[in-house]
Amino acid sequence: MTVSSRTQVGIVGAGPAGLLLSHLLALRGVDSIVVENRSRAYCEARQRAGLLEAGSVELLRQVGLGARMDAEGLEHGGIYLQFAGERHHLDFRDLTGGRWVTIWAQTEIVKDLIRTRLADGGAIEFEVSDTEVADPDSDSPVLRYTDAAGNRHEVTCDAIAGCDGFHGICRHSLPAGLLRVADREYPYAWLGILATVPPSTDELIYSRHADGFALHTMRTPQVSRLYLQVPADDEIERWSDDRIWAELRHRLGVPGWELATGPITEKAISPMRSFVAAPMQYGRLFLAGDAAHIVPPTGAKGLNLAIADVTVLATALVNLLRDHDPRAAKEYSDTCLRRVWRATHFSWWMTSMLHIDPYADEFGAELQLSQLRYVISSRAAATTLAENYTGYLPLRW
Ligand code: FAD
Ligand code: DHB
Repeated sequence: MTVSSRTQVGIVGAGPAGLLLSHLLALRGVDSIVVENRSRAYCEARQRAGLLEAGSVELLRQVGLGARMDAEGLEHGGIYLQFAGERHHLDFRDLTGGRWVTIWAQTEIVKDLIRTRLADGGAIEFEVSDTEVADPDSDSPVLRYTDAAGNRHEVTCDAIAGCDGFHGICRHSLPAGLLRVADREYPYAWLGILATVPPSTDELIYSRHADGFALHTMRTPQVSRLYLQVPADDEIERWSDDRIWAELRHRLGVPGWELATGPITEKAISPMRSFVAAPMQYGRLFLAGDAAHIVPPTGAKGLNLAIADVTVLATALVNLLRDHDPRAAKEYSDTCLRRVWRATHFSWWMTSMLHIDPYADEFGAELQLSQLRYVISSRAAATTLAENYTGYLPLRW
């Protein structure tokens, strides 16, 4: 038996994009349902991004999601860039007229969003299967799924938002031949760890080392997060905790500085790619976040882009469904793609400047070092990095 129902917006995926979209829509009186194929516990524990642009922070505050972030998030006014054995500081506040970023983990944003949506009576179905999208080019697209108890559902919607990440189904629901894809694979990956040890630095350290990139970031004053460049085909079983700490110490080390170590509570290897699918819309099916685009993590743009997409999308859907004004919905893809391509360029640039390309020759290595020297010695070059890192045009809500 199939259970039929109706809502205004069907949202596939309870990651940051889908959850924030349903929250923003609810603030403007638009109903939605979020369907998610994982459990609530899994969504809340999945270790991913941790750095928010100033604009993302301001948006979360504006929509009532700032309390815990403001109490527990860590505001940073710069980063360290390390290469050729020396560590240099970039002061974002000075370079950009006061801009900053905040360390606030994606897990915490997701927890706050799920709790808020459920407290407000929002519909989130976890552990669904066989999600399908039908009739995206009609005024009544249909979302089908099987709930955790095995019941099949058919939800008639006014619009569907594909917020189902890179491996989701929504992107593939656009007609074959419509979607154009631009992508790059990188010949390396990131090994990321979470460790119960106070960070050994006040701000993030991005280190280009001849043996590979390393990044020291953090989650709280008690928890550090660190990343190591590893070969694209490496396996986590080859990395004992001792080997990870030794390599981090080696790649992050400078005279007079010590890396504190502690128990590793999580470790995983993530591939790195750039991927942009366009258009991000077909009829009344809209793609947002990782469902439409992926950036390599260097520079921390993925989560911020997801937040930006759904802020644009929520306004477009409110205009379309409540005010019967389709203009912002028609422009959705073009509006988002301008920011997406800026972030795609920045992430590619940061990645290429800081990682050791196994296929590069001395020419490539010298170009990287020259670029890094330019960034730390030219105010114009440093400002370019700082502007991109701290974020783009403010999000309008
Ligand atoms: P997701 O967070 O991927 O959410 C999509 C949701 O859809 C998931 O919950 C998924 O289970 C669900 N879903 C998928 N298919 C279906 C289906 N068929 N039916 C129902 N639900 C479905 N960004 C940074 O800025 N810094 C980082 O350090 C960083 N590290 C990362 C590490 C990893 C391993 C990954 C994968 C990403 C990382 N990112 C990082 C990127 C950032 O986390 C993402 O950009 C962000 O999660 C995008 O949010 P989203 O909601 O679009 O997608
Ligand atoms: C983090 C990840 C990044 O890729 C980055 O550039 C900065 C911070 C993080 O996980 O905190």
